[in-house]
Amino acid sequence: MSDRKNTTFSSKVGLIMAAAGSAVGLGNIWKFPYIAGENGGGAFLVVYLLCVLLFGMPLLMTEFMIGKRSGKSAYGAFHALSGNNRWQWLSWLCMLTAFVIMGFYFVVTGWCFNYLVEAVTNALGGLSAQELNAHFDTIQSSNIRMIGFGILPVLLTAGVLWFDVNTGIERLSKVLMPLLLILMLLMAGVVLMMDGSSAGMRFFFRFDFAQFTPRVVMEAMGQCFFSLSIGMGALITYGAYMPKGQNVIATSVQVIVLDTIVALLAGVIIFPAVFAFGFDPAEGPELVFVVLPAIFEKMTLPWLSSVLFFALLCIAAITSTISLMEVVVAFICEATAGKKHPLNRRQAVLITSVLVIALLVTCVFVPEVFNYSDLVSACVMMPLGALGMAVFVGWRLHKIGKKSVQPNEKWIKRWARMFYLFVLRFIVPLAILLIVLNGLGVL
Ligand code: PFF
Repeated sequence: MSDRKNTTFSSKVGLIMAAAGSAVGLGNIWKFPYIAGENGGGAFLVVYLLCVLLFGMPLLMTEFMIGKRSGKSAYGAFHALSGNNRWQWLSWLCMLTAFVIMGFYFVVTGWCFNYLVEAVTNALGGLSAQELNAHFDTIQSSNIRMIGFGILPVLLTAGVLWFDVNTGIERLSKVLMPLLLILMLLMAGVVLMMDGSSAGMRFFFRFDFAQFTPRVVMEAMGQCFFSLSIGMGALITYGAYMPKGQNVIATSVQVIVLDTIVALLAGVIIFPAVFAFGFDPAEGPELVFVVLPAIFEKMTLPWLSSVLFFALLCIAAITSTISLMEVVVAFICEATAGKKHPLNRRQAVLITSVLVIALLVTCVFVPEVFNYSDLVSACVMMPLGALGMAVFVGWRLHKIGKKSVQPNEKWIKRWARMFYLFVLRFIVPLAILLIVLNGLGVL
């Protein structure tokens, strides 16, 4: 695959951590609470969890399997497995989706870096809820500041891909991921002890049927794709590097469980605090950025916990942007290989970074681009990519399942395989189509 040498996973844990690093990011800690807050809390949570089971599990397995079987990234995988170019549009869709996501993802990662610097300098200590809201607006009003802080993570991500030090990052995240979990557990403990927090728990966990709308279903599905990094080929690459004996099902389950725990924890931290401090759960994209600093003030070591949390959040975001940028970089390398002007990995990193910075600047100057790229990538592009992959494996490559049949295969295994194929062929495509069309008001 292109000219990468170092990206092999020496252990199964390494691969799980890398895939979990891609999955766990701003989607869990920034996006999940704000989308849930805007979509009625408990109603959203129930639909989200159903989507994780219905789409998340089979599609995660599918992407891993496409990568594992083809040994290629999103660019070459469909051609390698089908033997023709008819599925190449899926590779283009994956690349475009990664690109669209990167524009706004880097803006938000920039906010995290901004808050990290402010946590270090203790600039947020003692601010009231109104002041925290006003502070976020001040950050938004400075385009230069947003661009500067947005470019920083682009350069860090490009640096990781340039020097091919992914494996180092994965080793690091093996330590940092548990640390993030411990810190979040501590924060949840502090928040749940506060007066008025029970209203937040009710908001997050109580299913209110009145809130159950087509829009909620579409947003929940989009969030499921976004949070698990599915439908855009990022996990195909990880599948390609899977050690031989690695079990696709077990890996998928582990990644999903980790990702869901982090999202749930984020909800358990944010919503009780929202109600206890008098914020609005439907605050929008700024939700966690105004609520978190207020929580740190209540912790025993406010400075240390806020610095540690924002540092871990920045790292979680970077492990996701690495996998996003990798989709585009691998695409450019493989698409130009053997052509008149083949591009090597570093040239591809350079081109991608320049384009991403241009998109980031556009997102900063035109807020509509920011909002739409978030919505369109999660609720239209990723579902379409996932739909394509489900049809590709379910209908075009259905022999994949048969190939692995062993004469003495246990009945439960055979049934599980048939069930998987049924879900992939009928349930996933139909449900995605219905949800997207319904959510867009077409039906
Ligand atoms: N799953 C990441 C998150 O929750 O922050 C976002 C993401 C990363 C989406 C990589 C897609 C992707 F390929």
